[in-house]
Amino acid sequence: MRTIDAMRSYSSTLRQSGKTIAFVPTMGFLHEGHLSLMKKGRELADRVVVSIFVNPTQFGPSEDLAAYPRDEARDLEMVEATGVDAVFIPDAKQMYPEGFQTTISLKALPAHLCGLSRPGHFEGVATVVAKLLGIVRPHLAIFGEKDYQQLLVVRQMVRDLELNVDIIGAPIVREADGLAMSSRNMYLADDQRKAACSLYQALTESKKRVKAGEISADTIIASAEALIQAHPDTRIDYIAVCDPKTLDAVTAIDGPVLMAIAVKVGRARLIDNMILTPGT
Ligand code: PAF
Repeated sequence: MRTIDAMRSYSSTLRQSGKTIAFVPTMGFLHEGHLSLMKKGRELADRVVVSIFVNPTQFGPSEDLAAYPRDEARDLEMVEATGVDAVFIPDAKQMYPEGFQTTISLKALPAHLCGLSRPGHFEGVATVVAKLLGIVRPHLAIFGEKDYQQLLVVRQMVRDLELNVDIIGAPIVREADGLAMSSRNMYLADDQRKAACSLYQALTESKKRVKAGEISADTIIASAEALIQAHPDTRIDYIAVCDPKTLDAVTAIDGPVLMAIAVKVGRARLIDNMILTPGT
């Protein structure tokens, strides 16, 4: 469906016939990570709707909007093979018609991690997700935990605005070498692959250290930094150890914490995260 009207009437017909709808919003250039969200949708609801929309408002002026990978034909084959019932592919004119003036901004969550280096990003995400939820009217929507901060932002927005949809998080899907799946991995040249995998290595190494009793967040961050910087192609944006609910920085690890990393490898800005729990 390429129009808001078509999507709306599909969704209201389903709702009137008592069917539940799972929604997976995406920006396309799909990979196994996206497909895992769709498969989860299949398990949890009667129908699965996927959206494909490269949302311009969540990209900063110096970011990769124009270069963002797109392959609609391949995406459609993949969703069809995964048993998705409907795909919504609006264009920017419909999503942001002339005169559009509403945005949704959160006070605290975006003041951490990616929100600091990507000003306006989460405002763009919250606004487009709210609009997509208003159009698709799903019973539940599924988001990957790789974009952990995005998941928290969406959950908070849905709670604050009483949007009456269940927000479900789904685990990160990784390549065989540990690299978290992302549409932006296609920017990586062959010789940058090892550097890209250093994010996962730093996270798994940190997890081991915390399990073995390390409680200092600074020590964990310093060794992760050293491991990543051993690869000359990397530029660290942040390495953070923080509260998994508020994203506030943690200094002493005395319960589960979120370790989150963002690193530029060549043209690709990669993010990854893991929950570290003392003693486990
Ligand atoms: O995670 C993404 O692909 C995007 O941020 C989303 C949720 C589809 C909003 O544009």
